[in-house]
Amino acid sequence: MLATKCGLTWPPRGGRKKFVGPGGVTIYDNLEPESIIAECEESLRRLQTDVIDVYQCHWPDPGTPIEDTMSALMRLKEQGKIREIGVSNYSVEQMEESLKYGRIDSDQPQYNMLDRSVEAEVLPFCRRNNIGVIAYSPLGRGILTGKVTMDRKFGNGDHRASMEWYQPNNRRRALEFLGRIRPIAEGHGATLAQLAANWVISQDGVTTAICGARRPEQVAENVRAGEFKLTQSELAEIRTLLDELGQPE
Ligand SMILES: NC(=O)c1ccc[n+]([C@@H]2O[C@H](COP(=O)([O-])OP(=O)(O)OC[C@H]3O[C@@H](n4cnc5c(N)ncnc54)[C@H](OP(=O)(O)O)[C@@H]3O)[C@@H](O)[C@H]2O)c1
Repeated sequence: MLATKCGLTWPPRGGRKKFVGPGGVTIYDNLEPESIIAECEESLRRLQTDVIDVYQCHWPDPGTPIEDTMSALMRLKEQGKIREIGVSNYSVEQMEESLKYGRIDSDQPQYNMLDRSVEAEVLPFCRRNNIGVIAYSPLGRGILTGKVTMDRKFGNGDHRASMEWYQPNNRRRALEFLGRIRPIAEGHGATLAQLAANWVISQDGVTTAICGARRPEQVAENVRAGEFKLTQSELAEIRTLLDELGQPE
């Protein structure tokens, strides 16, 4: 499966300012039809392919009517340049609006043990509408691997420095939680990273999880996360421990 995204652009293409990214580059929201079509052509050229399997809108663009965005994506689909249409970080309302103008095949939300916010509305909506779920940051950006210990420092430009679960008190609580679930991982001969990813793909409605990796060894470890099956009682135990852990301070 070849999957890529559109909708976040940088100079010379503009849009509505979203944030200043790595290296001081301004990143824009832009899901206008002309921009989507140009981005798709560029992706096809860079990826050296005639068709992209899953083409996803990275973030909603509040400045562009969803009808316009969907019409561009449907046109790309009719032209055979993309096979499936995906969205990412969309609310239920934004997905409902999109469905008025075409089909959405996948949604890509953040989902991991420490951020279960999609469980309330997004996952049930995707299940009801047969929309595949590609969970991002399944390792909580690294903290769920147990390797982010109290002494780990994050340099300039690493957004984890300001993320709630990475602050000392919260990190300590997260590490204590990991200590409690470690026996479950060990019972399957798995690492904590593999347990975290396996937990995500074990949830009803989740199609796949995309793990990030900084080094080849992490890829080798993470691809084996699907090689065991958590029991219902293990899933229930993890859920109880997560409820006890609660939210970050
Ligand atoms: N749609 C969106 O808006 C969106 C947003 C964010 C991410 N994503 C996508 O989601 C995917 C993954 O997200 P993510 O990278 O943010 O989070 P993640 O998968 O939860 O965490 C990845 C990080 O965890 C650490 N790690 C990975 N495997 C490890 C292992 N086996 N042992 C120890 N540490 C390990 C690495 O960081 P260190 O080595 O530095 O600790 C790595 O960069 C990426 O493809 C990304 O593009 C999408």
